[in-house]
Amino acid sequence: MEIIIQPDSRTASLIASRIIARVVRERTNPALGLATGTTPLLLYKELIRMHREEGLSFVRATTFNLDEYVGLAAGHPSSFHSFMDRNLFDHIDVPRDRIHIPDGLAADLPAFCRDYEEEIRSSGGIDVQVLGIGTEGHIGFNEPSSSLASRTRIKTLTQQTRKDYSGAFGGEENVPYHCLTMGIGTIMDSRICLLLAFGGKKARAVAATCEGPVTAMVPASVLQMHPRAIVVLDREAASELKRAEYYQWVYAHKPDWQKH
Ligand code: PGA
Repeated sequence: MEIIIQPDSRTASLIASRIIARVVRERTNPALGLATGTTPLLLYKELIRMHREEGLSFVRATTFNLDEYVGLAAGHPSSFHSFMDRNLFDHIDVPRDRIHIPDGLAADLPAFCRDYEEEIRSSGGIDVQVLGIGTEGHIGFNEPSSSLASRTRIKTLTQQTRKDYSGAFGGEENVPYHCLTMGIGTIMDSRICLLLAFGGKKARAVAATCEGPVTAMVPASVLQMHPRAIVVLDREAASELKRAEYYQWVYAHKPDWQKH
């Protein structure tokens, strides 16, 4: 696990954007795994800026989003489809037919999930997967107790997650109970896992993820088993890490060829 601690979410997001931009430039047909939530917003802003000002093109890219609510139409303002259009896809040149987001209105949800896995496989696999983290340690919507080998499937949101997302729905009572999410096994198949976490309310989950035992009770902790997991944090999210000084020392002494 590479743990990068930055003074704030802006500088952290710039590092994450450089990791993604490199994949987009270097791969012939880059496959990007994308996330929703407040965490990747600055990252997406920077990718849009790179597209506008530096000619970063997504025309050969394919994208796969982690999750979507069950029962919400793509056009619903709180759907992850709408979120992605507003915050990224409407502003870059990724071809519409290569954007993949789970369909929470699919008539046959298990069949949809199987097809989603197949589409990821036939794209050549995800090159870099962007991840946020829930306050209880979820990645995607893989809530505590999710199988660490799980594939894309339907999940039930925890009460805490529904509370955390209530703002986007104008009240907890409006938050859906179910979602479709890539599984933890699906996420672990990505060549790079890029987890971002900002703010003190993520500090406990971050410490459990990076320094606690690998356990289904903290799904993100499975990233300790990933050969290329990069965790980019602001100072507050890193505040409960016991070895923070060591991670900063490692980052300060990175050889040039390893720098992001
Ligand atoms: P957030 O959500 O980015 O809005 O904090 C992250 C998550 O729940 O995975």
